[in-house]
Amino acid sequence: MAYISEETLKAIREKVNIVDVIGKRIPLTQRGKNYMGVCPFHDDHSPSMSVSPDKQIYKCFSCGAAGNVFTFIQNYENVAWNEAVAMLGDSVGIHIETGSTKKINETFKKEYEVMNLAELYFQNNLKSSYGTQAMEYLKNRGITEDIITTFGIGLSLDKSDGLKSLFDKKEYSMEMVKELGLVNQDDRDIFVRRIIFPLWDKDGQVVGFSGRIYRGEEINKYLNTRESKIFKKGELLYNYHNAKDVAKREKYILVVEGFMDAIRLSACGIKNVVALMTTSLTSNQAELLKKLRVEVVLCLDNDNAGLTGMINDGMLLQKANIPTKVILMSGAKDPDEYILKNGIEAFQNLLREPLSYFDFRLIRAKEGKDFNKPTDLAQYINEVIEILKDVDDDILKEVTINKLANDYNIDASLLKERINFEKETTLVIKENSNKMAKNKEKRNIKDEIAKKMLYYMMNDGKFINIYKKRLGFIDNEELRGLANEIMYYYANHRNINIADFISYMGDKNLNDILQEIMSLNMEENLVEEAMNEYINTYYRLMVKAQIGELKEKMAKETDINKKMEIASRIAELKKGGVDNASN
Ligand code: CTP
Ligand code: MN
Repeated sequence: MAYISEETLKAIREKVNIVDVIGKRIPLTQRGKNYMGVCPFHDDHSPSMSVSPDKQIYKCFSCGAAGNVFTFIQNYENVAWNEAVAMLGDSVGIHIETGSTKKINETFKKEYEVMNLAELYFQNNLKSSYGTQAMEYLKNRGITEDIITTFGIGLSLDKSDGLKSLFDKKEYSMEMVKELGLVNQDDRDIFVRRIIFPLWDKDGQVVGFSGRIYRGEEINKYLNTRESKIFKKGELLYNYHNAKDVAKREKYILVVEGFMDAIRLSACGIKNVVALMTTSLTSNQAELLKKLRVEVVLCLDNDNAGLTGMINDGMLLQKANIPTKVILMSGAKDPDEYILKNGIEAFQNLLREPLSYFDFRLIRAKEGKDFNKPTDLAQYINEVIEILKDVDDDILKEVTINKLANDYNIDASLLKERINFEKETTLVIKENSNKMAKNKEKRNIKDEIAKKMLYYMMNDGKFINIYKKRLGFIDNEELRGLANEIMYYYANHRNINIADFISYMGDKNLNDILQEIMSLNMEENLVEEAMNEYINTYYRLMVKAQIGELKEKMAKETDINKKMEIASRIAELKKGGVDNASN
């Protein structure tokens, strides 16, 4: 990644106005000194995002999203940090060479090199004379040379030391090659005689492979590299990096089961498609989909696993407030087969009229039931009640209940009662968990105060001086890490403002905590008295906690000398106080 200097970051940030940049993307209205808009980072209708022209930051009081103009673009456009900087730079005539648009994680540089080398090796095999039979197979499946290139398809050889000997000649440790799932413990290649499909992470870096048999052997059809520090199957969606921009343009993303389905659809021009590679969506994958802020259209395999999968995946998507639709195919097992059989136009027709997730659930509930049998009918109605419990739309609920009552001659109020009874019990549960959350809050009051101190410090150097002089220590490691970053920044710049500090933090691990602190609902005017008060309280609580720990230790101690030692330490702690800033 091209290094972007702090001066450049500052120059760009000062030339763009955060109100203009955000205002171009979401409507903002002025409210006092700040601007308010509907937050694009969570599902909402009321304006909970505040944009400050003075501080050049935004924060959402509802979901806690917060940052400066770069992080806004990074998250809104779903691009890497340096891409966001480059985009904004371009808009004000400061051009940055970002090199590759891929977000390269330096920590795994070597691992990525190994994967890239393996990918090239597989691709060369397919092009060589060894590849004739595999090419024949692909051709028969309607996979053209173009598709092969686009999806980086390759081939593993008959011999089991192809990759092994390749890496023997390179400087990479065999240990790492094994860890990445390319060679097994017996020094044999994992992939033998398989057509190889590279699997990418969300940014398009190859992190694993999947191999498919092509000579009709009676073995596992697909074999994947095992999970490694760079390959977590549940964290990626096949083809996400190619699909995300198209999905934003098209306002929906198609989710299929197999990567062959994604490849087929892509080759036929439907490029906003990703594959799960299983039937169950993970919350990580749901998050990736949510980031796109488009509708999700599920089209898994037309079998039991796929249909059940769509019920569960759809439920997860609903819970994450992602609008969800479903497509059902008939006469084919998966989209790949459907398109080969009926043509892409037929599939496009299905896409034009997807089912709502709710209607899909109703259709599934009817499946296999004979409504002339009272038990089947009762089961159906019970299932519909279950489904309705997850529905937030009151009108949809009302309409469905009335229709059900009409169609099957049941008392509508009975149905309503059933649904509402459940609703009340969930409310009680919710209330209880709120209480629990409150208790937890009490326990963390020390951390909460520390966060407020950090907020002050990020906004003005004088608070950093007070902190350094009077406290200089926070006993929560993460918060202390942030305090240290702030002090380091201030020492080097002799000046601090929150927008530039965010730029300085770039993509660091501490960003979640930084966002949390930024989105605290703090008073407009930050005064020294308040900072001093935080420090006093924090110090008192910290000493109290330390004394508590020592007392516990003393009670357990059997050696009388050590007991006395601890006692005198407690006495000392009780005596000591925190210095005053005016000293
Ligand atoms: N899959 C996987 N690992 C396996 C088996 C399957 O990752 N061990 C994933 C693949 O993405 C595969 C999808 O699950 O495409 C569906 O598997 P399957 O139904 O077996 O695929 P088919 O559609 O039958 O495969 P093909 O079209 O190649 O015959
Ligand atoms: Mn298939």
